[in-house]
Amino acid sequence: MNLAIVGKGGSGKTSISGTMARLLSRRGHRVLAIDGDPNPNLALTLGVPAERIDTLPTLPRDLLERTPEGTRFTKTVDEVCASCAVEGKDGVTLIVMANPKKAGTG
Ligand SMILES: Nc1ncnc2c1ncn2[C@@H]1O[C@H](COP(=O)(O)OP(=O)(O)OP(=O)(O)O)[C@@H](O)[C@H]1O
Ligand SMILES: [Mg+2]
Repeated sequence: MNLAIVGKGGSGKTSISGTMARLLSRRGHRVLAIDGDPNPNLALTLGVPAERIDTLPTLPRDLLERTPEGTRFTKTVDEVCASCAVEGKDGVTLIVMANPKKAGTG
């Protein structure tokens, strides 16, 4: 099952995502939670200590490659998890997509 949570700012997306991830994991499902928010804080909801949050790994820039046939991933999900994932409470695996420290050129 793939589940995407989107919506209005401050409407509870992070709270419901973290709660559902932890409940599903407790029930025995393998859960990979991906925080795509440019101001990521799902880790906190997943029980990662606050002092670790600013140092969590993020996805590498070379994860996507443009080819004449289109865009493709350069790594498998398992490879990405091995290098970028962290463990949250209740056995949830978390990937933080990005955590920009300052405004850039995009
Ligand atoms: N069911 C709820 N009842 C009351 N308060 C809630 C509920 N769900 C979330 N909140 C509170 O509402 C605020 C916003 O929640 P949350 O951060 O989950 O929203 P968000 O949609 O992820 O926000 P953002 O758009 O800033 O990422 C938080 O203070 C949270 O504790
Ligand atoms: Mg949020």
